[in-house]
Amino acid sequence: MALRNSPDSFGLISRLIHWGMALLILSLIALGLRISWMEPSLSNLWLYGLHKTMGLSAFGLVLFRILWHLISPPPGPLATGWQRLFIKAWHWTLYALMIATPVAGWAASSASGIDTLYAGTFVVPPLVEVSERAEFVWFILHEIFAKTLLGMVIVHMLAAVKREMGGDGTLTRMLRGRA
Ligand code: HEM
Ligand code: HEM
Repeated sequence: MALRNSPDSFGLISRLIHWGMALLILSLIALGLRISWMEPSLSNLWLYGLHKTMGLSAFGLVLFRILWHLISPPPGPLATGWQRLFIKAWHWTLYALMIATPVAGWAASSASGIDTLYAGTFVVPPLVEVSERAEFVWFILHEIFAKTLLGMVIVHMLAAVKREMGGDGTLTRMLRGRA
């Protein structure tokens, strides 16, 4: 089983990162929505910590994913013409949001003045100075980025299923490597 990508197949590493990150990000959105509806207290503080740890892990993984795709470029979409360009632009926007969402969350947490911990142990350096206004703005941005990401992922998923049902093997290629 090939680890690397080729011009017409996704290698094992890219497929594992794709599905692992999909699961992680969808769980992060569910957990994020859950904590945004809660009143922070000592009994639920661990859920904030869990969300931050998972979010920072997603950030690390997307950086690794980009690096890996520079070393081993993935195959382009199976569509042709303007559709191919459109799908590529969609994927690039997903990447931009996979970076912007955790960065905004990290900046908002830094602005709140509470130490941002990874796995409850390591103190992550603050991204911005402590300020109520900055905290407000970064949390709004975090929410907008995360919800846009969710909307785009839903369209992405439906489009992949539609193409698979049309018979071009798009989904099979992300599941098994080859169409
Ligand atoms: C891909 C990564 C991430 C995703 C998809 C994500 C998603 C979300 C979502 C959907 C919300 C609810 C927003 C709302 O309705 O107000 C949220 C809230 C939150 N996120 Fe994230 N998040 C990510 C990374 C991070 C990171 C890295 C941090 C901090 C280090 C963080 C800190 C927070 C905090 C503290 C809240 C609660 C805000 C409140 O109390 O209203 N998130 N997140
Ligand atoms: C948070 C969730 C998801 C994100 C952020 C995401 C992101 C991406 C990105 C950036 C690509 C381009 C290839 C790459 O660079 O890895 C891709 C490809 C793909 N994704 Fe997702 N994805 C998500 C969830 C899903 C789900 C749930 C499905 C299920 C239908 C899916 C099906 C596919 C398929 C079939 C491809 C290959 C497309 C092609 O060959 O043109 N993705 N995804």
